[in-house]
Amino acid sequence: MVHFDPYDHATHDDPYPIYRELRDKAPVYYSETYKLWVLSRYDDCSRAVRDFKSFCNKYGVAIDEAKEQMPTVLTVDPPDHTRLRHLIAGMFTPDAVKPLEDSVRVMARELLAPHLESGRMDVIGDFAARLPMAIICRLLGFQREDEDKLRHWTDLVVQRDEAATEMPQHAITATLALYEYFEKDMAERARHPVKDDLVAHLMASEKEGKLSHAEVLGYLYILSIAGNETTTKLIGNMTYQLNKNRSELDLLLKDRSLLPSAVEETMRYDGPTQLMGRSLARDVEFHGQTLKAGDRAILLFMSANRDDRHYADPDRYDIRRNPRDHLGFGGGLHACLGAALARLEAKVAMEEILDAMPDFAVDEGGLSRMHSPSVRGYTHVPVQFTPSARAAHPSEGGRLA
Ligand code: HEM
Repeated sequence: MVHFDPYDHATHDDPYPIYRELRDKAPVYYSETYKLWVLSRYDDCSRAVRDFKSFCNKYGVAIDEAKEQMPTVLTVDPPDHTRLRHLIAGMFTPDAVKPLEDSVRVMARELLAPHLESGRMDVIGDFAARLPMAIICRLLGFQREDEDKLRHWTDLVVQRDEAATEMPQHAITATLALYEYFEKDMAERARHPVKDDLVAHLMASEKEGKLSHAEVLGYLYILSIAGNETTTKLIGNMTYQLNKNRSELDLLLKDRSLLPSAVEETMRYDGPTQLMGRSLARDVEFHGQTLKAGDRAILLFMSANRDDRHYADPDRYDIRRNPRDHLGFGGGLHACLGAALARLEAKVAMEEILDAMPDFAVDEGGLSRMHSPSVRGYTHVPVQFTPSARAAHPSEGGRLA
């Protein structure tokens, strides 16, 4: 009998054996404890994300939500989704984010520089936790000095304890703090309308009647949350996997053009977003089993990515595989809006790590993991390396404009 508990810490440590069991023995699993269906095969998850008329987002996508949500692009269905997404989709295409590469690199170098002389650092705490928030704050137009508190609140929003099936109080408090910050920022901009950034763009859209005020707040909320923890965890997971798979690391050290493919393979093999929730808007059948209108379901993207019905030798980390069809960024109309930005950040982050500390080794004893049913990754990835010559020239990349 298969037993799957997405809140179990042992599952967070290594979910892949139970994912395999689910795919092989219970591809349409029902959790009596959490009252939800679990789809785990690639074809089934792929079909579900594309069938938005059956699998809807408006009652939330987190595992613990089944009620009407605040309106973010992620938690509305068409036609509202189409309107919200098209409003800023053009700002997140690969071409649109490409010009940010220099800023990401400068920021990455700034963050790495203070640690290079010592020959040790925490890839998460000192680096990966800070880079994505710095970049999203820059895009949104928030002050640099506010990054730490914004990151603190967004971390609290996604943090979940074992068996906490409701949004915990710390997450509610942090959400309210974020909303208060957004309101204050916009009030200040209304008095001094100077900037041409994402917040300014959203405020202009509200003025033109294309967005309600609640939708502007929802956008700021989702953009602050979605790109922060996930990208941090991707950089941490990639550092860990390259350390564990030294032959793959050697390939990358010899040939940096493999970096985009290595990012893609990390997303497939050990991506941060394990699952997304949906509510059934109508009855739908999978493998002879009916999921009924009103039921909840989770789509196990990271199980889908290890499905041997879709990928050859799926449990092998192979940086030359370039699996562009993985579900690490979801799929269908809610597929990750920030995927190109996340890919760019992870590529530059790893490139800078490899340049500055090519012989890095993860101190496995110091690793610690975050516990959440939906996001998987480390809170600390300590590394040691030969102190770098670059440490003497910390400002070589210039300052972030
Ligand atoms: C490695 C980093 C990231 C991962 C693993 C990731 C993962 C995902 C996934 C799986 C979805 C689909 C959700 C669903 O189907 O319900 C999603 C949606 C989304 N992501 Fe990301 N994401 C990442 C980075 C980012 C970044 C950097 C941003 C923003 C700048 C971002 C913004 C969004 C938004 C706005 C959506 C909702 C899109 C929609 O509903 O149309 N993400 N992300």
